[in-house]
Amino acid sequence: MTKSNGHAGNGADKSRKLRSQAWFNDPHNPGMTALYLERYLNYGLTRAELQSGKPIIGIAQTGNDLSPCNRHHIELAHRVREGIRAAGGIAMEFPTHPIQETGKRPTAALDRNLAYLGLVEILFGYPLDGVVLTAGCDKTTPALLMAAATVNIPAIVLSGGPMLNGWHEGQRTGSGTVVWKSRERLAAGEIGYEEFMEIVASSAPSIGHCNTMGTASTMNALAEALGMSLPGCAAIPAPYRERGQIAYETGTRIVDMVWEDLKPSDILTRKAFENCIVANSAIGGSTNAPIHINALARHVGVELDIDDWQKFGHDVPLLVNMQPAGFYLGEEFHRAGGVPAVIGELMRHKRIHEDAITVNGRSMGDNCRDAAKPDNDVIWSYDKPLVKDAGFLVLRGNLFDSAIMKTSVISKEFRDRYLVNPNDPNAFEGRAIVFEGPEDYHDRIDDASLDIDEHCVLFIRGAGPIGYPGGAEVVNMQPPAALIKRGILSLPCIGDGRQSGTSGSPSILNASPEAAADGGLAILKTGDKVRIDLNKGSANILISDEEVAKRRAELKAKGGFPHPANQTPWQELYRNTVGQQATGACMEFATRYHNIAGTVGVA
Ligand code: FES
Ligand code: MG
Repeated sequence: MTKSNGHAGNGADKSRKLRSQAWFNDPHNPGMTALYLERYLNYGLTRAELQSGKPIIGIAQTGNDLSPCNRHHIELAHRVREGIRAAGGIAMEFPTHPIQETGKRPTAALDRNLAYLGLVEILFGYPLDGVVLTAGCDKTTPALLMAAATVNIPAIVLSGGPMLNGWHEGQRTGSGTVVWKSRERLAAGEIGYEEFMEIVASSAPSIGHCNTMGTASTMNALAEALGMSLPGCAAIPAPYRERGQIAYETGTRIVDMVWEDLKPSDILTRKAFENCIVANSAIGGSTNAPIHINALARHVGVELDIDDWQKFGHDVPLLVNMQPAGFYLGEEFHRAGGVPAVIGELMRHKRIHEDAITVNGRSMGDNCRDAAKPDNDVIWSYDKPLVKDAGFLVLRGNLFDSAIMKTSVISKEFRDRYLVNPNDPNAFEGRAIVFEGPEDYHDRIDDASLDIDEHCVLFIRGAGPIGYPGGAEVVNMQPPAALIKRGILSLPCIGDGRQSGTSGSPSILNASPEAAADGGLAILKTGDKVRIDLNKGSANILISDEEVAKRRAELKAKGGFPHPANQTPWQELYRNTVGQQATGACMEFATRYHNIAGTVGVA
């Protein structure tokens, strides 16, 4: 176990009257105090406990039957409670809105802001002095962190941890990644439906979240890199004994954090966000990370924009050899030292702000200085990495104001086919094939009349936060079966949707503004020539400015780019308030609320 438990009493003032006592112990208002108290006694808590002034610690429970990736948090919460009790606190566990990446239609991303809103209201309106955030599946981690940032009471992340490694016929099968690979084999006729299903099921051998460096492992690693979880927390596989142990230590630590008044705003500083961007490149993190991290920065009130991802992250090497960018899975990453080992290696090359403070009260530097050294197998060294300059590129042009590309997953096949012109080494041109969302893509990808060949660029639009509410993970489009049979396994893909963090596709994605917000993709037509220049960071339709103006006028005359009708009340509220991926796809008005915990009772 890494040194994980912080020292108590670091600036702790245990004589302080805590927030919860405004409910349970207000001598000026005995009537309300009695009302607040009596119902919390009805399952066996005593008045003496609740009026003792002990910290009341929420456990924001994301586990439930609809959320299998996080379900074991129901068990882990027992160890969290024991930790809270042992440290002199009182635990109060409560449910959060479920967000299951693989279960929620139309998208799980739609529910990130809903879970955020719900948790803000709970943390604000109930007698809580601190909170344990039970993170795991993709959007659960950012939703919890965003809410804790807005309310700004002491908060600590407990990751659920990845599943054990999946295996099929002696090969590792990684969550999601194996689906993308196997669907190519299914399309090529190499395997049948039954075998396809069996291989995919083999990638989920135990409790836990995705075992690849998909969005779940990424966001939990980044929560740790931000300083919001105990060191070593992110990578411990869900069923390992250390997972229960760190649950206990997380419970003890949050009680001391309350006495120290160590809040999200103390930890989530500009330095912490720069550390997070650097760490994301080194782990080969998900393209969803900029969306969630930029949203978190806005909710805590730190300036951060999409260009910061290229500025601080692009020249950072890929160190972690984990699927989809590499070979291994979660168990090996944990054994090789997890996040502290990665941060430690980045520190030796001066890429980390070592003085950034973390939840255990120590600095990032102190937490990671003595972590495991790179083993050059699972974690590679900074000087001899898997990939140099492995961070995101930010592209812009008349197609969009910004989109990102994960350069660490550009394959040799892709480079050899598209990035070969010696006079123009990092650019390619192609004929655009435009799909109106994922259903249209599935209906028409094998349509011979589209005449798709290796000189085409596949586009998908209507898949952004407004278009397909939440933003669909669909940009990594597979070429037509006829091309796959000829050995062409990928075409350049561009879109206003997202893609799964488990995908190894070098798509250009998260395009902002999206087509449904009348971004440049809205005026693109099938057959247009497009040019992508990675050196210049440009992405353009090769049409004249007059043609752009003409198409813009046509779009305006049609009343803008359409999106499907709202199916639920939340979809309507979401669409009316959501911003674009580049700025975190936040509910824009919500970013005005900061540090609100102390204002309770005023209204
Ligand atoms: Fe939940 Fe990947 S689907 S973590
Ligand atoms: Mg996903």
